[in-house]
Amino acid sequence: MRTLHAIILAAGEGTRMKSDLPKVLHSICGRPMIAYAIDLAAMAGIKQPIVVLGHGADAVKPTLSKEIKVVIQVKQAGTGDAVLAAKKVLGGVSGDVLILYADTPLLRRTTIQKLIESHFKTGSTCSLLSAHLADPSGYGRILRNETGQITGIVEEAEANAAQRAIREINIGPLVCRTQALLEALASVKPSTSKKELYLTNVISHLARQEGTKIQATRIEEVSEALGINSRTELARAIGVIRQRILDAHLHNGVTIEDPKTTSIDYGVTIGTDTVIHPCTVIERGVSIGKRCSIGPFARLRSGVAIADDVRVGNFVELVRTKIAPRVRVNHMTYLGDATVDEDVNIGAGTITANYDGQAKHPTQIGKGAFIGSDTVLIAPVKIGAGAVTGAGSVVTKAHDVPAKGVVVGVPARPLDGHLREKTAATLTAPLTRERPKRVRNTTPVRLKKKARGRVVTARRAARPRRSSKLSRAMKRTVRRPTARKRQKARR
Ligand code: UD1
Ligand code: CA
Repeated sequence: MRTLHAIILAAGEGTRMKSDLPKVLHSICGRPMIAYAIDLAAMAGIKQPIVVLGHGADAVKPTLSKEIKVVIQVKQAGTGDAVLAAKKVLGGVSGDVLILYADTPLLRRTTIQKLIESHFKTGSTCSLLSAHLADPSGYGRILRNETGQITGIVEEAEANAAQRAIREINIGPLVCRTQALLEALASVKPSTSKKELYLTNVISHLARQEGTKIQATRIEEVSEALGINSRTELARAIGVIRQRILDAHLHNGVTIEDPKTTSIDYGVTIGTDTVIHPCTVIERGVSIGKRCSIGPFARLRSGVAIADDVRVGNFVELVRTKIAPRVRVNHMTYLGDATVDEDVNIGAGTITANYDGQAKHPTQIGKGAFIGSDTVLIAPVKIGAGAVTGAGSVVTKAHDVPAKGVVVGVPARPLDGHLREKTAATLTAPLTRERPKRVRNTTPVRLKKKARGRVVTARRAARPRRSSKLSRAMKRTVRRPTARKRQKARR
């Protein structure tokens, strides 16, 4: 096979998107549109494609990897002009060149492979990709003579009524002998309507030359042909790619209960027998182990790694968080920048306060810890293995809870005598018998039991079962005011 270069056209303004963001940076399932074209080139074995940038080049360039050769098309004077801009980095006229448009992200790798294979097999000068669309509007139409030979491509703006009725369209990508392409581009004239140099105008020029051969590979799945020029087309493309991603997970043994309301980005891995419940959003780069249950209404953001047998329930948001096997995070929780060890139970309403307005800080939760409902963990903070936080407690910054420690209240303080095991572990919070400050939404409960001038009170956020270990742990004894003080208070 002769050498094959690739040029990706991405300089256009994308006016119809009505956006400040360059068109090729609009995201499709977690990655910019242009990444799909770069993938196609890579899958065709071209590691160093030439990308033509222009409009918004400063924004696009930093998103590209170092291997990619970037050329700038100073004025966006058409797709043919963009190819000419790439001429200087092509390194001569030998071999063939694959041209891809950065705005046709739905093309499959197999389609591009077929195009390249048939180009070389048939010894063609230029090979196109075509599709038959029920509604061909907006696309270049492929012109053929009586014997079916391709004679050119006419753009919609230039087409007459009969040509507009043609349903065979140009999808965009083509493979062409480099020398023939550059020679043809040197002789074609800018279009009459838009004054742009159309790449597609080289086809009629080549067709008129002696001994040239032009062919088109027709694609069967017409959705692949979609070019993204507007937000409507972008939404359609996102729908198609999302469905492909879901199909791949279903094929791999993942249950997705309601594909219509599930969104999984590109680059997510999910183990077998995991069940994804409805209305769940899983963003780019997340990994989930086997036999997990995720959702409904869960949002897993970037940097999340979940091991096997984990349950992530409704209204849970996770970001940059590592979760070990058998952890349960079942209800209304936000964990950011956290590391959660095996067998931890995270109670309903737990929040990591990971951002102090300037920087993000980590939270570590040790093996088997039990985080009570409505706990706030102010990062950076560590909860030791087997430790317990009482419902509604606020564990303050750097007041780490030792292994098997029990903390309650606001701010959370350790309970003396409630360390399951007193070890040399240092307690960073003071061990006092002070009454914890009153927290809003916490109802003091006066128990009937009175003994020698003392009342026993307990504080609780919800209604703990009296018999539970935790509620007993949360009881406090306070001295009843003296008779004189009570009299004073009545006055
Ligand atoms: C183009 C084709 C049309 C085809 C359709 C398929 C031409 C003239 N027309 O039309 O036959 O049916 O795609 O989707 O090629 N670009 C540049 N520099 C420019 C202009 C465009 O790099 O000066 C890039 C754009 O960023 C884009 C691609 O080329 O990625 C296509 O340009 P666009 O303006 O979208 O062409 P269409 O009108 O869609
Ligand atoms: Ca287009």
